[in-house]
Amino acid sequence: MLKDTLLYLAQNQRMRDFVVQNPATRGVSRRFVAGETLEDAVQAVRILNQKGNPVALDFLGENVFQESEAREATQNYTAALNLIKQTGIDANISIKLTALGLDISQDLCEENLRSILDLAREYGIFVCIDMEASNYTEQTVAMALKAREQYEQVGTVIQSYLYRSKADIEKLIEHNVRVRIVKGAYKEPPSIAYQNKKDVDESYIEIMKMLLSRGNFPAIASHDENIINGARTYVRDHGISPASFEFQMLYGIRRDLQERLVREGYNVRVYVPYGSQWYPYLMRRMAERPANLIFVVSNSMRG
Ligand code: FDA
Repeated sequence: MLKDTLLYLAQNQRMRDFVVQNPATRGVSRRFVAGETLEDAVQAVRILNQKGNPVALDFLGENVFQESEAREATQNYTAALNLIKQTGIDANISIKLTALGLDISQDLCEENLRSILDLAREYGIFVCIDMEASNYTEQTVAMALKAREQYEQVGTVIQSYLYRSKADIEKLIEHNVRVRIVKGAYKEPPSIAYQNKKDVDESYIEIMKMLLSRGNFPAIASHDENIINGARTYVRDHGISPASFEFQMLYGIRRDLQERLVREGYNVRVYVPYGSQWYPYLMRRMAERPANLIFVVSNSMRG
């Protein structure tokens, strides 16, 4: 119930204005978001790199409805690629197709995607296409498969809560596309998605095993210790090298677990979001764990 309310509020403009204009909540958002600028993000990346964590940089832009905004988002992503190259930090990038103009036209989105992938190929930097709400799944999978025909260093994300995901995974594995497996962060109806944790987790574990056995450097993205322990057991029992996959976790979440896994010799990439459009991202993180709401509210009142 609270989860649904938070996911609903993630889309609410009045709530967004209230939270974003409030200096206290802006401050508290820094627990989960590296800052509003690329330079803020690079500072966070340096600290994580020192701790042994490579990073996935995520410029926070959500859906855009004007071509100029899509071009601007594309420039923000290419600026990130340029800065990664210039500074030599250990990072790749995650992008969202809606930020590149998917709601305006597929052609525009593909054109913007190509300009990002051209630069990424020149620099040898990997680009992951994040997965958004289910109305974009079909196009996202199709565009990732198409992009992979031309570019080696592109991958995408699959959500274990969707019934369709196993079929998508088979296609992506067949075409050697790198995949990040996640549980899924949006509100989806029972007609297309598992609703309870047990089913979502079972689906996750099944897909995770497919990826660990047959995938191309998969990313196991979760903070769930049962899932992580399942992955460790599976790779140990099947003689799969820890060098052939990575765990991924979100900035500011389960830092203890991130450090422990690095000490044990696993690759742990941290997903570092930055940018001024942090409100929906923050709301999705609170929906995943309502205790975060208490953290945000109590710290805001203190601030
Ligand atoms: P689950 O939600 O079951 O949580 C297990 C435990 O992890 C909790 O009990 C708690 O201890 C801890 N935890 C989880 N979330 C927390 C939070 N927000 N704050 C504090 N503790 C938390 N989704 C999507 O739809 N598209 C995408 O492209 C991505 N990309 C992505 C990248 C990376 C690197 C990660 C880690 C996650 C995503 N996600 C995503 C989000 C994903 O779908 C999912 O919503 C979250 O990872 C939470 O699910 P868990 O697997 O952590 O398990």
